[in-house]
Formats: sequence, C-alpha cells, structure tokens
Amino acid sequence: MSSIPVDRSPDSTLAFLRDGYRFIGDRCDRYGSDIFQTRLLLVPTICLRGRPAAELFYDNDRFRRRGAMPMRGQRTLTGVGGVQGLDDAQHRVRKAMLMSIMTPAAIRQLGQLFDDEWRARIPSWERSGPAVLYDEVARMLTRAVCAWAGVPLADSDVARWTAELHAMIEASAVLGPRHWRGRLARRRAERWAGEVVDRARAGALPAPEGSALRVIAEHRDDRDRPLPRRIAAVELLNVLRPTVAVDRFVVFAALALHDHPQWRERVRGDEPATETFVQEVRRYYPFFSVAAARVRRSFEWAGHHFPQGRRVLLDLYGTNHHPELWPGPEQFRPDRFVGWRGDPFTLVPQGGGDHLTGHRCAGEWITVELMKRAVTNLTTTISYRVPPQDLALSLRRLPALPPSGFLIDGVRRIA
Ligand code: HEM
Repeated sequence: MSSIPVDRSPDSTLAFLRDGYRFIGDRCDRYGSDIFQTRLLLVPTICLRGRPAAELFYDNDRFRRRGAMPMRGQRTLTGVGGVQGLDDAQHRVRKAMLMSIMTPAAIRQLGQLFDDEWRARIPSWERSGPAVLYDEVARMLTRAVCAWAGVPLADSDVARWTAELHAMIEASAVLGPRHWRGRLARRRAERWAGEVVDRARAGALPAPEGSALRVIAEHRDDRDRPLPRRIAAVELLNVLRPTVAVDRFVVFAALALHDHPQWRERVRGDEPATETFVQEVRRYYPFFSVAAARVRRSFEWAGHHFPQGRRVLLDLYGTNHHPELWPGPEQFRPDRFVGWRGDPFTLVPQGGGDHLTGHRCAGEWITVELMKRAVTNLTTTISYRVPPQDLALSLRRLPALPPSGFLIDGVRRIA
C-alpha cells in the first residue's frame, strides 16, 4: 500500500483561508498527487481532486455527511439539521421532498418571475446613473424566489432580507466580523422563516400547491412526523438563500461577456450557445471551493488507506480546473461543452453524482435556468456600458466576487 503524501505544516487552517480556491490544487501540484493529507482545525483531513476522486467521494456506502461540515459552516451557511448533514433514509426522504419542488414547469415559472423582475427594473436603470449588477440581481432574485416559494415579502423588506441571505453566504469561510454577521443573519432568518412556516401550517397563509413553503410545511419525515419548525425553517432557507446566490454566477456571466465580447454575438438568441456559455461560466469561475464528508468504515482505494471517521474534502474548484479533464483549464472556452454528454463527476461546481440519491445540489437546474435567462437579458433586452472599475477576481477571497460588483452604465432597452 502507498502512503498518502502528508502536508508539511502541523495545521493548515490559516493556509486554507489564505490560499482560498488554490489550497488543494497547489499542494496536489507540489506533491504530484491528486490526494494528500493535512490537518484543518487540528482535524486530520484527506484532500482529493479529479474525476476518480469525485466518483469515490459521492459513493454513499463509503462516506457519510453527519459531522462532516464544521459547525462554523452550519451556523452560517447551511443551518443545523438541514439536508446537507443527513445520511441514508433520512437524507433520501428529505432530498426527495426538495427535489419534488424542482419540476420543469416550476423551474420555468421561477425563470419567468426573474425575467419579469428584470424587465420591471429597466426604466429605473435608464433613468439613474451606474448600477451595481450584483446588488440589482440579488434583489430581483430575492423577490422572484419569495414569490415562487410562497413566502410573502413586502417591498420595504426586500433590501433587508437580501442582505441577511448574503451575509450567510459570505460568512462560512472567513474569520472575524464577516463570520459573526453571518451567524446573526442566520438566527434572524431562521426566526423569520419559522414564523412563515407556522402561518402556513395554521392555514393563515395560503401557500400554493407544489410551492416550496407548502411542500416543506406539510412534509413528513422518514418516520411520518412533520418537520420541527426550526428544521422546516432551515429547509425553506435552503431554497431561498442559494437561489439569491445565483447573483454571483450572473455577475461572472457578465464578466465573461465583457472579457470575451465575441461571445456576446454568439449567444444572442441562440439557446444551445447560451447553454454552453453558462456551463463554461459554472466551470471556470470560482464559487464553492470544496465539499466535505467522513469515511463510514475503513477502506482501501487506489492503494491508499482511508480510516473510519476521517474527514475528506473534495476539491470542486480544482476538479473543474483539472488539466486531464479540461484541456487548457485556465482558458474560457464554452465550445468545450458542444456535444458534452454530462459526466456527473467532471463538472462539479454544485457537487457531483446523482441529485436524488446523493448530495449533489438540489438547485442545479434552477441555477442553469436563471443563468440562461440572465445571459439572454444581458444580450437581448438591454444595451449597457461597463465603466472603468475594479473587476479583478481574487482566488484568495471565498466566495469570490469582483470588488466593484460589476457596474453597468448607460442602460438602454433594446427589446
Ligand atoms: C448559486 C449557485 C449554486 C451553487 C454554486 C451551489 C453549490 C452547491 C454545492 C457545492 C453543494 C454541496 C454538494 C455536496 O455536498 O456534495 C450544494 C448542495 C445543495 N444545494 Fe446548491 N448551489 C447553488 C444553487 C442552489 C439553488 C438555487 C438551490 C435551491 C433552490 C440549492 C440547494 C441546495 C441544497 C438543498 C443542497 C444540499 C443537497 C444535499 O445535501 O443533498 N443550491 N449546492
């Protein structure tokens, strides 16, 4: 049996925070191995990247999720007790609940609501000076997803809840004030979502059939019990928060259109080209860096020993940029997705494997739909200028975003 290369440092937590998206990839390159071992928060951790690693990582018989994500991530990003940390029957039943919301018709409906928000906003962009696309899209998505999910939201509350949802997303991989702001935001948001669930259960809020609120409020778990109010709130936020997070991908798509203007012409009114463009945006730009699991029972893989209970991180960013999977990985080339057959273990910005039986992102189809709508809107419903601004994308900042949030100016309706 070959031993797993061991990172030299006694604990790599600070390096993990400092090196950001390149933490695993840099070390894999250094050791000439797609697997190495380190300590993070003093816990021995095996880091992996690449297709065989992704296939291994999404094998439910070998890995579990309970106890995999550090509490600091649960108390900000995901919440405690949500689908992310469940295994086996509990996970299957909870995940089936979430996936039941994601029908093609429902996804189209959410896309339409987003389009409506976009069109409604154009006159104000035409009137005002520069607008920050990130903030604009965030508020549109908050409105759209709340309306779609059956969650009432007064106009006066849109900015506030958008900020709270953002704060949760910003907080998990940082120390200091940004982290504590995220914890506070989660406490407030769970209280808010819990009250909404209470009202739906009491019949005081008529949530439409099939809406996220109705499905979650009425859900019964693997032992036929309703979800406790707090857990129902966590799952409702598992729909709202990441839908608003699609704003980052929209900014990345705008950045790609700006940096590769030839694609503006290619995607305009061309659905297949828009799809390849969106897939390349999801591959190329950095969003979540890793996914975490724990070894269920000891096993050997590729000559390496994985001891029971060991924490394992799959490098999502590094797999999306693996040179053996993606020739010229640091080039933005949507054409690589022409005729792509959809391997579940190579394009993993939202996890890999199967949506229903595994932990792959429940909202992947929603994400692609919303991104396609945004790209279509950016290329066919408005024209705009991109004024001078700081668009540098740092791979050290988790989650990444250009500092300016992508300013647009001189907006005109063209359709
Ligand atoms: C904004 C773009 C998004 C990104 C980059 C993203 C990324 C991810 C990642 C990396 C995972 C974890 C995979 C793993 O643990 O192996 C995940 C899980 C999840 N995502 Fe997303 N996601 C996005 C959008 C969405 C949307 C729009 C929704 C819902 C409407 C959603 C709901 C979920 C849920 C519920 C899980 C947990 C699935 C499970 O544990 O079985 N995500 N996502």
